[in-house]
Amino acid sequence: MNNITWHHHSIKKDDRVKRYNQKPKIIWFTGLSGSGKSTIANALEKKLFELNYKTYLLDGDNIRHGLNSDLGFSDANRIENIRRIGEVAKLFVDSGMIVITAFISPFQKERDFVRNLVNKDEFIEVFIDTPIEICQKRDPKGLYKKALNGEIKNFTGVSSPYEKPLNPEIILNSYKVDKNIAQIIKYLKGS
Ligand code: ADX
Repeated sequence: MNNITWHHHSIKKDDRVKRYNQKPKIIWFTGLSGSGKSTIANALEKKLFELNYKTYLLDGDNIRHGLNSDLGFSDANRIENIRRIGEVAKLFVDSGMIVITAFISPFQKERDFVRNLVNKDEFIEVFIDTPIEICQKRDPKGLYKKALNGEIKNFTGVSSPYEKPLNPEIILNSYKVDKNIAQIIKYLKGS
C-alpha cells in the first residue's frame, strides 16, 4: 500500500457501542439458492428492528445490482463477491450496527476470511440446511429449471459446488420462519 496512510478517527467503535447500547455483529447466512436466506434474513431484520436494534441487511441479489454488478458466478468472481461483502460488513460492525448478510457464499475459505475480519464473538455463521431437492422444488426464480436444462452455467448445487459449513454457530433446518427466528434470537441473547 504505497503512499496510503491510515487515519485514526476521534470517534471509535467503542464510543458507538456505548451510544447505541448494542453489540455489533455480522449474522452471516449461507445456503443454497432457494434455501430461504433472503426470507429469513428479512424476517430477522424486521424482528430485531422492532426490538429497537440498529440493523442493516445486505442481500446477494440486491448487492449484485449495484456494488458487485461487475461480477458473475465463476469461482473467482464469487470469491471477490464475498471479499467485498466481508469488507463492507466489517465497516458496518465498526459503525456499531448489526449487519445481516444473505449470500450463497459457497466456499468455506471465504466465509472464514470474513470471520477473521472481525472479533471472535462478532461473526455468527448461520447455515440454512435446506436440502437441494427442496430448493429445486421451490425454485422461486425458475433458475434450477434453467440450470438443469443447461441454460445457466456454474449454478450452485447443479454445476458449481457448495461447501457445507464445517462449524457454524447456528444450523437452521426448520421450514417455519418463526421457529428459525426464535432460534437465532435465543442464540443472540446468550452471546
Ligand atoms: S455467491 O455464490 O457469490 O455468494 P450470491 O448470493 O451473491 O452468490 O448470488 C446468488 C443469487 O444469484 C441466487 O440467489 C440467484 O438468484 C442468482 N444466480 C444467478 N446465477 C447464478 C448461479 N450461476 N449460481 C447461483 N446463483 C445464481
